[in-house]
Amino acid sequence: MTGNRTFTMIKPDAVASGHIGAILAQINQAGFRIVAMKLTRMSAQTAGAFYAVHKERPFYGELVDFMSSGPIVAAVLEKDNAVEDFRKLIGATDPAKAEPGTIRALYAKNVGENAVHGSDSDENAAIESAFHFAGQEII
Ligand code: RTP
Ligand code: MG
Repeated sequence: MTGNRTFTMIKPDAVASGHIGAILAQINQAGFRIVAMKLTRMSAQTAGAFYAVHKERPFYGELVDFMSSGPIVAAVLEKDNAVEDFRKLIGATDPAKAEPGTIRALYAKNVGENAVHGSDSDENAAIESAFHFAGQEII
């Protein structure tokens, strides 16, 4: 059985470029319901903890610097088959390889500054949602 919730962040590049509204509209139009949301900023320590799974990857330092460079929008989204459908909506990690019309094809700058995050499994969706939200903040 697949879960019906995923976790997303609108990353610092897309917030700084003024794309919060357009990205949220596209998320809603694709049938996702927002069940938690906040504008926040991660410290380097918080971003490092969020992406601890990537600690050994060569891009880890760059990723932590980027994700703590400015405000983000964190949100929990609800829809049938949420994790897989949201990954389709955002497109490939590298915007040059993302399907036309996907959020990354439209708004991402490059493979590092790629506009949005989407959980890659139901298990990680639950972990990442709990990282950013207390239970009472999720509707
Ligand atoms: P995300 O977790 O943000 O939804 O992205 P993803 O699953 O598509 O990609 P992942 O492999 O989990 O990588 C996490 C984030 O690290 C940055 N990255 N930079 N310079 C690079 O080669 C590189 N590769 C990945 C991106 O910000 C990516 O979204
Ligand atoms: Mg990922």
